[in-house]
Amino acid sequence: MMHPNPIKKGIIPVLLLAVVALMAAQKRSLQPEPIPPPYGLNSGLTEVLMELGDKKPLHYTTSRDTAMIRMGREIIRNGRTRGPDGKLSRKQSNFFTCTDCHNTAIEDPDLRYSNPDARLDYAIKNHLPFLQGTTLYGIVNRESWYNGDYLKKYGDLVRGARDTLMNAIDLCCTECAQGRKLESWEIKAVMHYLWSIQYKLKDLHLTPEQYKQLNARVKNGSSKDQQEAIAWFKQQFFTASPATFLHPKSVENRSLGAKGNAENGKKIYQASCQHCHAPGRVTHYILDENKLTFKQLRRHLKRPTRFSVYQITRKGTYAMPGYRPYMPQYTKERMSDSQLEDLVAYIRQQAGGNASDQ
Ligand code: HEC
Ligand code: HEC
Repeated sequence: MMHPNPIKKGIIPVLLLAVVALMAAQKRSLQPEPIPPPYGLNSGLTEVLMELGDKKPLHYTTSRDTAMIRMGREIIRNGRTRGPDGKLSRKQSNFFTCTDCHNTAIEDPDLRYSNPDARLDYAIKNHLPFLQGTTLYGIVNRESWYNGDYLKKYGDLVRGARDTLMNAIDLCCTECAQGRKLESWEIKAVMHYLWSIQYKLKDLHLTPEQYKQLNARVKNGSSKDQQEAIAWFKQQFFTASPATFLHPKSVENRSLGAKGNAENGKKIYQASCQHCHAPGRVTHYILDENKLTFKQLRRHLKRPTRFSVYQITRKGTYAMPGYRPYMPQYTKERMSDSQLEDLVAYIRQQAGGNASDQ
């Protein structure tokens, strides 16, 4: 006759209890921790930094007026708005609006990296275009503008535009958008808008523990603590966008899409090229889904001309007197060489024919 094992008998209820306790603990940890004051998810990053003792940016404004924000947003998106006098303003540019080249939403999944592969996926997921200009979201949180090779390329033209955001905008109005400078009420409205899209604490994806530490530092940290916190914050995003210019690949070094991923190339074609080249957009040079269009692009792949995507993406075109719309180049940070190969693979796939066809 078998005797029930007394140890085994006792172990089952204990195990059950342990499981229940574990589930309860897990449920607790799934609930978001309450964010302790004074800072919450929607606090502006610059305000937090200033509270920690960082110096006030030159372009800082305390007032954030909703009517001004609306006007600023319309200037950025449409080039014009109804001004304080109730009249429709003159278009900033006859050729472009700022959003032809810049997003106004976050475009990088992790603000610490400028990675075009991650950005393309994020852009597709969030229905954003994939552009040469950096996003205007968080641009007020940067500390200098036109960095990296933009300084090398433009020299003195850019030097004066690096240290203040207003000057940087002025420069882009004339040099990039090929239009007029903004009037002082317009630039004010634009600044109100740009402050409304500054980085918020939530954009940094801090853990509840990091929030707690931050708030403790703001409230009763030593000044060394606070300096460290400022430095730490500034590593969580770019205070200056990196920009590296690349030379177009020489004709003999072009792989012509051999290792490219056509599916990825299609994303680039649609989210980037067609943002400007679709019918009715900023240029009459149309890039549509027509086979002839792809054949025409393919024909130039091996040539050292501006109609070759190898050349145009890295060099862009220049505005000319009498013909002002031009195409900005893509830096390494805005399109990688492997993405360019993906685009070429897509062009060849859509053009059809044999792999050796020109
Ligand atoms: C034809 C394309 C184009 C248009 C239109 C355009 N920009 Fe730009 N802009 C660029 C490119 C390219 C850069 C350099 C890359 C970068 O840093 O964003 C740039 C840079 C900037 C910068 C400096 C960014 C930095 O961190 O270095 C600011 C500020 C700016 N643009 C504001 C504007 C505003 C405001 C408008 C509208 C009035 C505008 N831009 C219109 C293409 C354009
Ligand atoms: C921000 C707007 C913009 C984007 C994005 C853009 N282009 Fe352009 N592109 C232009 C403009 C403007 C021109 C000048 C066209 C003209 O002559 O009318 C141009 C010119 C060109 C030309 C040469 C035509 C010429 O006249 O020299 C080619 C080829 C071209 N683009 C391909 C592309 C491809 C491929 C992409 C995507 C990787 C792309 N473009 C993305 C605005 C853009």
